[in-house]
Amino acid sequence: MKARILLVIASCVISIVTGLVIARGGASHQGSGAAHRPLIGLSLDTLKEERWQHDRDIFLARAKELGAEVIDQSANSDDTRQLHDVESLITRKVDALVIIPHNGAAMAKAVNLAHEAGIPVLAYDRLITDSDLDLYITFDNVKVGELQAKFIVEHRPAGRPLRLVRIYGSKTDNNAALFKKGQDNVLDPLIKSGDIQIVHEDWAEDWRPENAKKIANAAITKAGHNFDAILASNDGTAGGAIQALIEEGLAGKIIVTGQDAELPACQRIVNGTQAMTIYKPLKNLAQRAAELSVKLARGNRSSRVTS
Ligand code: BGC
Repeated sequence: MKARILLVIASCVISIVTGLVIARGGASHQGSGAAHRPLIGLSLDTLKEERWQHDRDIFLARAKELGAEVIDQSANSDDTRQLHDVESLITRKVDALVIIPHNGAAMAKAVNLAHEAGIPVLAYDRLITDSDLDLYITFDNVKVGELQAKFIVEHRPAGRPLRLVRIYGSKTDNNAALFKKGQDNVLDPLIKSGDIQIVHEDWAEDWRPENAKKIANAAITKAGHNFDAILASNDGTAGGAIQALIEEGLAGKIIVTGQDAELPACQRIVNGTQAMTIYKPLKNLAQRAAELSVKLARGNRSSRVTS
């Protein structure tokens, strides 16, 4: 199969959800705080994936340009550690918190702790569920899932059903469910009509490539070489799945999707083992998040000083 390159510039689908900015007061005075630079705490799930390194770097650069200081911490996909990171940022008296949650449900506790300390919270790219967030900024994740599935549908074999393996992301990441929702929007009618058969499907814990590889191996154990495509939800999981295909001599013969336009994925597209990726304009997201969090921080700082 001829590998095809599809880099979808997703700027058209970027949907920045900017909620109501509520500057939270109530914390103690901080001396001549107004004269100081606003301090922002940035708590990241992980820096192991290339995309988050870019997010962080762009965020830091924009916040610095705007005169803010940022303390960033990465939790290495560990909920206890991420909660601890947030607690330590609260202790260091940040004026605003930006959180990329490893686990959207678990981090609700961090939002409560921050609010008790009078610190507003922005959820970056991933939703923190069941929490009273001050802001949430993200892409149109359902649209991303739809684009991935559409690619598969457009490249299905003529005259027979497409046999599909589905690799979802991490169950603890709300985005993984949104990507699946978008994929389902496109695939469900074709699954019902019998034009697409699901050979195997599973969630890749923590989005780890090695877990995606295990899922691809399980699919091969089940179906042998008798499948056409792997709908992998991002480039990391695509990389893991492709590793399994390489070991079976199937790489380049099976359509594999992705997202994030990470460098290794673009290289795989060039060498024909990955079929597509989706580029999301991280610069827009990270810069906008930096601008909004600086506003939150300044608002909070001045209300602390005047209260
Ligand atoms: C992001 C994806 C990313 C994945 C794994 C998701 O929340 O939307 O861009 O690939 O996390 O880090």
